This record gives sequence, C-alpha cells and structure tokens, in this order.
Amino acid sequence: MAIERVVICGGGIMGRGIAQLIAATGTEVTIVDLTDEIIRKSMELLSEEMDAEIEKWGLTSSEKKAILSRIKGATELKQVCDVPIIIEAIPEEEERKKRLLKELGELCSPETIIVSNTSTLSITELGAVTNRPDKFVGVHFLHPVTKIPLVEIVRGLRTSQKTYDLVKEFCQEQLNKTAVSVYEYPGYITTRVIVPFLNEAMHVLMEGIATAEDIDTAMKLGYGFHMGPLALADAMGLDVLMRWMENLLNELSEHKYNPCPLLRKLVRAGHLGKKTKLGFFIYDEEGNRIGENPEIRLRVFIPPPEERKS
Ligand code: NAI
Repeated sequence: MAIERVVICGGGIMGRGIAQLIAATGTEVTIVDLTDEIIRKSMELLSEEMDAEIEKWGLTSSEKKAILSRIKGATELKQVCDVPIIIEAIPEEEERKKRLLKELGELCSPETIIVSNTSTLSITELGAVTNRPDKFVGVHFLHPVTKIPLVEIVRGLRTSQKTYDLVKEFCQEQLNKTAVSVYEYPGYITTRVIVPFLNEAMHVLMEGIATAEDIDTAMKLGYGFHMGPLALADAMGLDVLMRWMENLLNELSEHKYNPCPLLRKLVRAGHLGKKTKLGFFIYDEEGNRIGENPEIRLRVFIPPPEERKS
C-alpha cells in the first residue's frame, strides 16, 4: 500500500534530500522547520540542488516542477502532522531530538509511525520518550539521499515487527532503496565504520604527511572510493560529523571516535564544509570544489623561523 503523505521535521541537508526522494514517487511532503525564513531558504536550496542535477542530466525541468509542486513548508506541527509517517531529520543533539519526539507523540494520530534519521543516537532511548515506542523506528538515509541506493533500518528494542515491515516495504517498494537491517546500537554499520576512517584522514593531514588533495586522490585511486575522505567529510558537514564522533565516543568510550583536533578547529572557526563553502576544501557558489582551504596550512604548520614574530 503506497504512503500518500509524509511529514519531514528539519529542512536541512538531509530533510531536503529525503523530501525530494519521496516527492519524486508522487507522495505529498511537508517540511516542518523552525521559522518561515528557514523554510524559504530550504526551498530555495532544494531548487538550486535540483538545478545542479538538471545540469548534469540527472533530472529534467519537468520532473523538478512536479517534485516541487508536491513539497510544502510549514512551521506549525499541529496543523500538518496527521499523516501515516513522520520523519525526524533535525540536528544530532539528543535533548533537542527528545523534545521534538515527545511533542510528536502527543500531537500525531495514534496510528502515525515516527521515524528518526539519527546517525548515532539510540533508537530505543529516543523511542522511549514518545508515547509509541512500538511505532518508532530508525531509517538511516545517507547523503546525497537521492543518489545513495542504501538505507539502514534500525529496530529499537521495542519497535514492533509490523512497524519494521511497513517501513521496510515503504523504503524498498516505494523509494526503491536497498534496505539492510540493523539491531539497536548507535552508529549502525555505516557511521561506525566511516567515522574512524575520516578521522584518520584528518590526522594524516594534520601531521603534514600529505595535502588534502593527495590524501583524497590516494584513497580514491588506491581503494576505488568514488569520493575522497576529506571531500566526503565536507559534504556531510563538519559540525554534523563532529557531533557523531562525540556521541559515539560518549556511548562507546573508544579513543578512535575522538574528533581530530583539526576537525575541532575547523568547526570552531565556522568552517563547516560545503555548506559554508569552506572546509578542508574551498567551494564556489555552485558547490564546485575550487581548491584546498589555505587556512589549514596556517593552522597546522608552525611557520619557519624567519616568518615567526618573537
Ligand atoms: P542540518 O543542520 O543541515 O539541518 C537540520 C535542520 O533542522 C535545520 O534546518 C534546523 O533549522 C532544523 N531544526 C532544528 N530544530 C528543529 C525542530 N525542533 N523542528 C523542526 N526543525 C528543526 O542537519 P542534517 O545534516 O540535515 O542532519 C539531520 C539529521 O540527519 C541528523 O540526525 C544527522 O545525524 C542525520 N544524518 C546526516 C547526514 C549528513 O551527511 N549530513 C547523513 C545521515 C544522517
């Protein structure tokens, strides 16, 4: 049975991608975010992202028009949340997610399934704050959502088989994704494995072993990755990545999840990757990579003595 209406909470990188994916299947989507201004910006970015796909022949103008006609924005949850599925895609902050999920439980119809796109938080713990842990499940879409053929479906300890089956069918039959099953544990498969890999690439850069360009080229050509680790980190969002590491470190107490100091510095400086046009690399207005971030050299290397001021 096709799902005809979906609400997505959070119109950021993931919320926009999920909205585009779902609206492309003919389903009506409402994106809920904090203010009208954020909604306006989110719709503008979504339109630009689709224009970039059109330029690469990945989408047609009429498909774009049809997709946008099915996506609406809203700021008042109460008015829109009577739908079969609500997807939460707000920032990876436990207390913020819990507040929203509790509210969703109170506002939605008892039949509504609540889905979280969290990468590193416990589905059981998040589900416990809703009034329906049996109808709460994790669906981990990856960025860019419309291109990545995979989703991880994460069962919390109280997710019912019925909820799991319905959401799996939605992802596979309607959204055309390959679904893998993950049993309750933060980080799942993809985040657990990719995070130490990206962190190690940052340490290689920080130690001055190679340039960002060469690290990415080595991993692409050497191991067949379609994207280098530093460009991937930039695309995910460095603040988002750092939050994942902190959550995993907190949960698993493993040093390998400790964010590289270089990542911490970039995030503190507001260099959050592609979305701010500056991360490990620099990006132009269209999001094309145009070089390495020159500030990283200044931040990492101690200047030669003749350049040092006493
Ligand atoms: P983002 O920071 O780009 O977007 C978050 C959006 O949520 C913002 O527009 C913000 O205004 C909105 N928001 C904040 N509080 C809200 C509330 N109470 N109600 C409605 N909207 C609210 O974050 P991003 O990258 O889209 O991540 C969202 C979730 O997806 C996180 O849990 C993240 O871990 C997960 N994720 C992110 C991936 C990535 O590559 N960026 C990949 C897979 C999962």
